[in-house]
Formats: sequence, C-alpha cells, structure tokens
Amino acid sequence: MEAGKIADTHAHYDDPAFDRDRDELLRRLFAGPVELIVNQGTTLATSEESVRLSERYPGMYAAVGLHPECVGENSLEELERLLPLYDCPKTVAVGEIGLDYYYDNPRDLQKAVFCAQLDLAKEKNLPVTIHDREAHGDMLEILRKKQPKGILHCFSGSRDMALEMVEMGLYIGFGGVITFKNARKTVETALAVPLERIVLETDCPYLAPVPFRGKRNDSSLIVHVAKKIAELRGLSEEEVLSLTAENARRVYAL
Ligand code: NI
Repeated sequence: MEAGKIADTHAHYDDPAFDRDRDELLRRLFAGPVELIVNQGTTLATSEESVRLSERYPGMYAAVGLHPECVGENSLEELERLLPLYDCPKTVAVGEIGLDYYYDNPRDLQKAVFCAQLDLAKEKNLPVTIHDREAHGDMLEILRKKQPKGILHCFSGSRDMALEMVEMGLYIGFGGVITFKNARKTVETALAVPLERIVLETDCPYLAPVPFRGKRNDSSLIVHVAKKIAELRGLSEEEVLSLTAENARRVYAL
C-alpha cells in the first residue's frame, strides 16, 4: 500500500449527481489519491448498482442493503431478492441499514427491517454500515441486543454513546460534518474514539467538507476530513490517512 492513500468507507457513486462523469471521475480517483471505496446500497436497485460498480474497478467494493428512508411495505420481500448479491465476490458488507426518525417512515417497520438485516449480517459473517438519525435510544437498545460488527456512519450521537459502541467492537465513521462550524459534538467524539477505531467516509455526493460545503462531494475531498482529525489528534495528515485506511481494510476484511 502507498502511504497517504484515501480509503472512503461510505459512498454513493450510483447517485444521479455522478451521471455526467462517473467513469471519468472514478478512473481519475483510483489513478490518483484513492485506494479503496465501499459503495453503499440503499435499495434493491442501488445495491445492484453497487455490485456493478465493484466489478468495474479493482479498488471498489459493494455494500448491499435497504436504507431506513427507503423502507416500505415490500421491504421484507425485497430482502429475499437481495440475497444473491451477497454471493458476489466484492460484496463486503450489509449496508446502508439503520433507523431514521427524521422522516415519517413507520418506526416498527424500520426496526423490523433493520433487525432482519443485522441477523443476515451475522449469518453471512459480514460487517454492517449503520445509519442513525434522531433514533439514538432505539438504536442503542437494538445494538446492545444484536452486537453487530461494522461501522457507525456519520455518527451524530453523544461521545458516551460512541464510546459504548466502540466498546461493543464497532468503528466510528467521520466525514465532512467534522469540518462544519457547528460540529462541536462530532469533534468531541473524534477526540475520544481510539485511533484504531476511526474510519473516514464521504457519504458522497452529500456532506462535502469545508471549504467545499454544499458542493458535490467525492472521495478526494476526504483529505480535508483527515486534516481536521490530524489537527485534533496531533498527527500528520499522512498518518491519519494511513491508519484510517488500515482500519477500513480491517473492518471490511480486505
Ligand atoms: Ni449514506
């Protein structure tokens, strides 16, 4: 592995925001600063697209799953239809899964689909990528019970909750949010999480770091997240990139 290369543990390159230049951009990223990307599924269609992208680039891997915002009446049937995608050699995780109480999607259904996917991950011996928005109480309760391995992505809860998750064996994903002015809680968490449990992510096309906030995000911009964490932890940007890349390969078993 080359020093200072970027590992983006959470991206959505299937998004229409990349339609005009997806292949050109990914070729450029992999020829340049990026070592690996895990593209996250959110629906049946985007999970299929994640697998397709992973087949096209050596450094690209797929997560397959149903996002809580995309959960509906047919989700439990859809989970059956996702099953063959877990046999693809570059599928490395069940994701993006979780709970999102910001929108009105029925909570019981979200919980049922999340728990079914946590069970599936255990059965397949795969890590999960977890989305938690305004659902910290139910999330903690479920994670305490299910004890999954994987990444808590774009974490917005308290430092204490993060540390309990770390104790459980989970990794904490940091992205553009940590560079925002109002990121006090995220900064507190980034100061407390052990370095061997920190991974970097874009969630692109969303959440571009400062000074690109509001623009389309891509994996090359992770250097701004690494720089912020380097400042906080008294390390060099290179050190942060290489230790988080090592963490990413460990959590995804790459
Ligand atoms: Ni995401």
